[in-house]
Amino acid sequence: MDMVTLTIDGIKVEAPKNATVLEAARKAGIKIPTLCFLKDVNEIGACRMCVVEVKGARSLQTSCVLPVSEGMEVITNSPAVRESRKVTLELLLSDHNLECPTCIRNLNCELQKLSEELGVQSIRYPGQKSKAQYDDFSPSIVRDTSKCVLCRRCVSTCHKVQGVGVISPNYRGFDTVIAPVFDMSLNEVPCVNCGQCILACPVGALKEKDDTHRVWETLADP
Ligand code: SF4
Ligand code: SF4
Ligand code: FES
Repeated sequence: MDMVTLTIDGIKVEAPKNATVLEAARKAGIKIPTLCFLKDVNEIGACRMCVVEVKGARSLQTSCVLPVSEGMEVITNSPAVRESRKVTLELLLSDHNLECPTCIRNLNCELQKLSEELGVQSIRYPGQKSKAQYDDFSPSIVRDTSKCVLCRRCVSTCHKVQGVGVISPNYRGFDTVIAPVFDMSLNEVPCVNCGQCILACPVGALKEKDDTHRVWETLADP
């Protein structure tokens, strides 16, 4: 296998020629935060959480889609890198439903974890909230786009892993929403209720339907 040598945070690292900087860093035990990245499924460089500095480059680079090259010098934790990740995260949080205590993913949420790791304790960009969709008509899956971070991990999983492809980005820019075509319910499209999109989601925007209360009601019904 053809290998290249680069330095990451001053450490000499060898990586296959076709590896990304993120892969090379992980192999060397250097942590770079990610959000939209899902190995072999969603490698689209969308969220910019994984940015790094590369010597000679004019702007910060997304390490999850950046190929390694011979002699490359990468810095993963400079003040500019940390500030960029923090701004990205605060912008995401500024349009996020922050009802964490009642969220199914509370304490098991990648957004919460990133906030803690990056030291986000307040949001500098209060602003407009996008129009959210709440869809609980499916027999097994609840969609709540007020918690969606638009990472598209569910979209790629449904399309590439399940070969179904019933969810995709609708509209553009600030109005973008991840939903079935024409904003239909998951119940109205050929969703097979496999739940793989829920597993791929880093936050509480997709969850299993909980019918426990109906069981209690039935048990209590004489
Ligand atoms: S449950 Fe399966 S088929 Fe339905 S949207 Fe999710 S991944 Fe696609
Ligand atoms: S529903 Fe979840 S996996 Fe899908 S784009 Fe939104 S945050 Fe990402
Ligand atoms: S993890 Fe690299 S751009 Fe999202």
